[in-house]
Amino acid sequence: MRAQGGPLVVKADGLAAGKGVIVAADTEEALAAVDTIFEGQFGSAGSTVIVEEKLEGEEASFFALVDGHIALPLVGAQDHKAVGEGDRGPNTGGMGAYSPAAILDEAMSKRVMAEIVEPTVAAMAEEGRPFKGVLFAGLMIGADGPKLLEFNVRFGDPECQVLMARLRSDLLPALLASRSGDLAHFDLRWESRAALCVVMAAKGYPGAYEKGSEIRGLDAAAGLDDVKVFHAGTKDEDGRVIATGGRVLGVTALGDSIGAAQERAYAAVDSIDWPEGFCRRDIGWRAVAREKE
Ligand code: GLY
Repeated sequence: MRAQGGPLVVKADGLAAGKGVIVAADTEEALAAVDTIFEGQFGSAGSTVIVEEKLEGEEASFFALVDGHIALPLVGAQDHKAVGEGDRGPNTGGMGAYSPAAILDEAMSKRVMAEIVEPTVAAMAEEGRPFKGVLFAGLMIGADGPKLLEFNVRFGDPECQVLMARLRSDLLPALLASRSGDLAHFDLRWESRAALCVVMAAKGYPGAYEKGSEIRGLDAAAGLDDVKVFHAGTKDEDGRVIATGGRVLGVTALGDSIGAAQERAYAAVDSIDWPEGFCRRDIGWRAVAREKE
């Protein structure tokens, strides 16, 4: 780390709910970060530490269905991980997402497939461990093109909500084809319109929050055109919808542009009556600003 110098990223190598990453401005901060992790801030997730180059660029989420040998790219998305507007404050699992992601245009998606996804799928097959399922590449896209931050073997949350809003084909046959090794001639149809999802979370999230409050107005929200409210942390109690989690609802809308989808999603949010919940009011801000340019 001393030899490398400059800004570095220090990570706990285990699962730490997306929080085990410290971006250090210089060597001194990086060395302090290593001490913090080895002292147990992230529990056993921090028994091994990884030190990486700090990448500059824009984060994006790339998904492919894989059948062991063939990878079928899905549409791209971007999420907002920070809890606060302007992408400030502590990280969460994701406070909102949108698709398409301008930065993942056709040329960039081809590069991600050729440089990251296909070599990974081929290497796993070669090792005798062919991967089948959803491969989610968390990317940083900068001046040198796409760099891989992490792989997950699941859909993203809330990226999945915007993907499902845009998917025009039936998902189940695609998942079965991935399982049975039949993706070679498979194709998926996608909505050309944009989708945007606003996460409504319990006040206090990602810190301590209360469970058990009632959510009203869901029928009015779901009754709006091209709106779907996905439930993430609710339960039905005698016909009343009760919040049971941190991230509770994924209010998702389609529109002719990200801006139009954003407008519709917030109209749906505004018809939901849940004083104990909150959401960011700027989901999609970067994409909407780009559209205005
Ligand atoms: N939204 C990021 C994730 O699902 O990991």
